[in-house]
Amino acid sequence: MQILVTGGAGFIGSHTVIELIGAGHEVVVIDNLANASPKSLQRVAQIAGHEIPFYQTDIRDRAGLSAVMEQYSFDCCIHFAGLKAVGESVQLPWEYYDNNIAGTLVLLDVMRKHGCKNIIFSSSATVYGDPAEIPITENCPKGQCTNPYGQTKSMLEQIMTDMQKADPEWNVVLLRYFNPIGAHSSGLIGENPNGIPNNLMPYITQVAVGKRDHLNVFGNDYDTPDGTGVRDYIHVVDLAKGHVKALQAVERNCGLAVYNLGTGRGYSVLDVVHAFESSNGLKIPYVIQARRPGDIATCWSDPGKAERELGWKAEHGLEDMCRDSWNWQRNNPNGFDD
Ligand code: NAD
Ligand code: UD1
Repeated sequence: MQILVTGGAGFIGSHTVIELIGAGHEVVVIDNLANASPKSLQRVAQIAGHEIPFYQTDIRDRAGLSAVMEQYSFDCCIHFAGLKAVGESVQLPWEYYDNNIAGTLVLLDVMRKHGCKNIIFSSSATVYGDPAEIPITENCPKGQCTNPYGQTKSMLEQIMTDMQKADPEWNVVLLRYFNPIGAHSSGLIGENPNGIPNNLMPYITQVAVGKRDHLNVFGNDYDTPDGTGVRDYIHVVDLAKGHVKALQAVERNCGLAVYNLGTGRGYSVLDVVHAFESSNGLKIPYVIQARRPGDIATCWSDPGKAERELGWKAEHGLEDMCRDSWNWQRNNPNGFDD
């Protein structure tokens, strides 16, 4: 298939481009590079063995998007482009709604005008809020999002659901990611956060590489086995493969389909710290701090629907995720910056 990948220079997008090419698809990337380095796609080309057609275009730029669409005849769009920092979204709600929602509205309109009505969308387990059931199935009701970032995911799911209902020619696949970590086994691409990382694994790897003194563990008084928050960490390469499998749903004209992409296992913050230490032979000093506002105690998936319907299942365990995250950070202490 010929696939348009928005946000393809970013963390999950770059790994997905490699898996798509490996599966024989033709890929075109657009990204405005708001949160990515052009080097990311150079590394992807190194791994894939050829250049990837790339357009530095903003999804809000109707003319720019149309110009790209006119050159190709895309079978499907995999839509990663978006801003994703939870704390920043609380400070800059207008910017998040404009980028993520207004941007996606332009993208969807340009797509339908060019006869491409197939989209796979990067959603998040954040749409479940404080989940009503654990493990979380796709039937779990959506919950209250505590920040504008989460709201954009929830609202965009609703917008695409309504569009598909009104026009059944659309195939809309909503992929709800749990906590992606890890990196490509080559160590050439990985997560490259700006400034102080918000998420657990990039913070741990920055402690390991000597950029930060210690990890702050946000709360040890949750109702979990060791009191720290429990999450469903998934290797980014498994997640990337989930997108390739999701194309099957599009091919069989699924209409609207929703899938959790997780491993079905929950690990606490301290489990992750200890797994990182033992898989890499390193010590990660940590200090227990107050809970982080907006955090929940426990979040892990039932990924059975994706296995039954797409034949997809995460293959990597926590040790692989810790090893590959460290391999990326160790080889690229400053990310894509020299
Ligand atoms: P990322 O920031 O690395 O990638 C997003 C990419 O989109 C970046 O390369 C950025 O430059 C680009 N982009 C942003 N706004 C754009 C715009 N207006 N036009 C064109 N390009 C634009 O993030 P990621 O971790 O790879 O996440 C990819 C998607 O998955 C995002 O939509 C994110 O919200 C979603 N998601 C991520 C996680 C996670 O933990 N990483 C979890 C759930 C969902
Ligand atoms: C966060 C976002 C969520 C987003 C997800 C995707 C918040 C409140 N939620 O989820 O919307 O979809 O990322 O990446 O930001 N932790 C520490 N110390 C740290 C960092 C994290 O103890 O320095 C703990 C957290 O309290 C949590 C766990 O580690 O228990 C995982 O945190 P994180 O990686 O930020 O992911 P989520 O909070 O699950």
